[in-house]
Amino acid sequence: MLKDFMFHLPTKIVSGRGGLSELPSEARSLKGRNILIVTDKGVRAAGIVDRVVTHLNEGGFRGVYIFDDVAPNPRTDEVNKGYIYAKKVEANLLIAVGGGSSIDTAKGIGILIGNGGQIEEYEGIDKLKKPMPPLIAIPTTVGTGSEVTGFAVITDLKRKFKLTIGDVKLSPNVAILDSDLVASLPPRIIAATSMDALSHAIEGYVCKVSMPVTDAIALYAIELIAKNIRTAVYGDDYEAKANLQLAGMLAGIVISQTDVASVHCMGEALGGMYDTAHGIANASILPVVMAYNAIADIDKYAKIAKCLGIDTDHMTKREAAIASAHAVKELNEDLSIPSLSEIGVREEDMRTLAEKAEANMSNSVNPRAVTSVEYLTLFKKAYEGII
Ligand SMILES: [Fe+2]
Repeated sequence: MLKDFMFHLPTKIVSGRGGLSELPSEARSLKGRNILIVTDKGVRAAGIVDRVVTHLNEGGFRGVYIFDDVAPNPRTDEVNKGYIYAKKVEANLLIAVGGGSSIDTAKGIGILIGNGGQIEEYEGIDKLKKPMPPLIAIPTTVGTGSEVTGFAVITDLKRKFKLTIGDVKLSPNVAILDSDLVASLPPRIIAATSMDALSHAIEGYVCKVSMPVTDAIALYAIELIAKNIRTAVYGDDYEAKANLQLAGMLAGIVISQTDVASVHCMGEALGGMYDTAHGIANASILPVVMAYNAIADIDKYAKIAKCLGIDTDHMTKREAAIASAHAVKELNEDLSIPSLSEIGVREEDMRTLAEKAEANMSNSVNPRAVTSVEYLTLFKKAYEGII
């Protein structure tokens, strides 16, 4: 099918074992002088921030500052706090070290440095008038994809709602993927963040704004995740983890050019209300949304089934499409992903969750129409663990 599209990826990607050693030269080309590292306390305690600082010091950088107040599901108040600190140290280069939370917080801080005001004002698409300072993203998880996207998702504390800011100016200048940084990642973090990446690849592939370039990347990412996730989680295998890191970035490229869809609409509603980890929220919802969407694009879901490793040779396309949802449900079971009831979702909150999911700006690109009525049914199914 012919399709008009535009593909614009402004991020330079440096990937490989020991890739962190490239940091000083990248910081130099971005004219870094006062550098603010945005991270969380866990990543700092793991010694990764020390390694980043050592590389920068050895590269001759003296003005290196650390903001480590990032929590999972970054909040508006953390962005404001980081912005105040960035102003104090006159930061002219941001380096995000961590998962999606740290990268998105750095983007939020960058928005305020460049544009001032309150972070809530920039909700939506293309709301930034001025660029932010340069940003180098160093992911330490295997699924966010935020290192290559122009999106930031921040929890609005007042509305208990995850607000999305999308603008190509938010794309990091450089993403450094060093497989050594994910080698000792705990299995439960690998499982959750890779399932987020899988939902990025699937949603970016099936959504209404999909495009040929990212379709190709998405299918490769799905295959890479399916082949490596169990080995990485249970086998402590270095190469499998490195492959998942690569797949997470590829899935990030997919959504940087397209969009996410109903899984994220529901997952972000959960994260906003219950502070559920993003990857867990999406993973627990992914199979039920796949089963709902499959009949709207049987061809694409049948291809997803193949990439997930299902032998579809003796199936009809429709059977294969539906089988893709069952395969992800089995993957969730193998990875001990909790159901919505185990997450602690309350049945009385489901109507509000459904309304929040419908209000999400990615709702309109889901391949099959969804209103709060269908979202309520999907939440109930995910709660009961059926698809
Ligand atoms: Fe996500």
